[in-house]
Amino acid sequence: MGADAYDSFAVDYDTENGVSLLNAYYERPAVLGMIGDAQGRHILDAGCGSGPLMAELIERGADVTGFDGSPAMIDLARRRLGDAATLGVHDFAEPLPYEDETFDDVVVSLVLHYLKDWDAPLAEICRVLKPGGRFIASVNHPFVRQFNDPQQDYFATKQYSEEYEFDGHPAVLTFWHRPLHEIVRAVVGSGLDLRVLDEPAPSPSTPIDVMPPRIASGERSAFLSFLFLSAQKPRMQYREGV
Ligand SMILES: C[S@@+](CC[C@H](N)C(=O)[O-])C[C@H]1O[C@@H](n2cnc3c(N)ncnc32)[C@H](O)[C@@H]1O
Repeated sequence: MGADAYDSFAVDYDTENGVSLLNAYYERPAVLGMIGDAQGRHILDAGCGSGPLMAELIERGADVTGFDGSPAMIDLARRRLGDAATLGVHDFAEPLPYEDETFDDVVVSLVLHYLKDWDAPLAEICRVLKPGGRFIASVNHPFVRQFNDPQQDYFATKQYSEEYEFDGHPAVLTFWHRPLHEIVRAVVGSGLDLRVLDEPAPSPSTPIDVMPPRIASGERSAFLSFLFLSAQKPRMQYREGV
């Protein structure tokens, strides 16, 4: 699973995540914007990594629980957060270790693209959300894969690997590509009501030397990297024949 890889470069990834355009000035601000006022909300950070999002949510008054499949990442999260969050090692492919209707929000930042099957994890997210609760996620934008490899079959759900550099050290990540309609089908099929599909711009607070030059110059307003979505668990569940 994707978490195995993170055990081997946990510290490098954490360092990179803290300062990178993609995490610190694009993905995390966008997710925090989608969450909005977190005061008093009980939030599950699924695939929480080393906990940078949880740290922000705790500062904003949320009651935070997180899990990750990588023991090394959870170790870093424990060091960062101490007792301020409830943390555990858990594989997202397995049923979630939480009671029904526990959370106001389940946030899944940059994790679902490591999973071949989304139906079972999304059904579990729906189960642990309170009625009216929100599922908020970011995933690799499927069009980026198509730009990078136009010969691939866009419509096939399939695995691919990419080379990265985290804090100056090489790393390989292996993802599952899935087309846009399959992402939407999985979310809506889990019983959640899709509310937002977004392709945001980087945060206005991005330092000029970190901002892509064509955005800094005003030539473009945003870039394509991740797809952001928010869906809500219906307040009332209708059963057939009732
Ligand atoms: C790109 S990192 C994102 C971490 C964190 N959400 C953030 O945004 O800072 C992806 C995380 O997903 C975790 N992960 C990958 N596959 C997983 C699985 N099957 N179950 C649980 N965690 C998984 C990895 O261990 C890693 O911490």
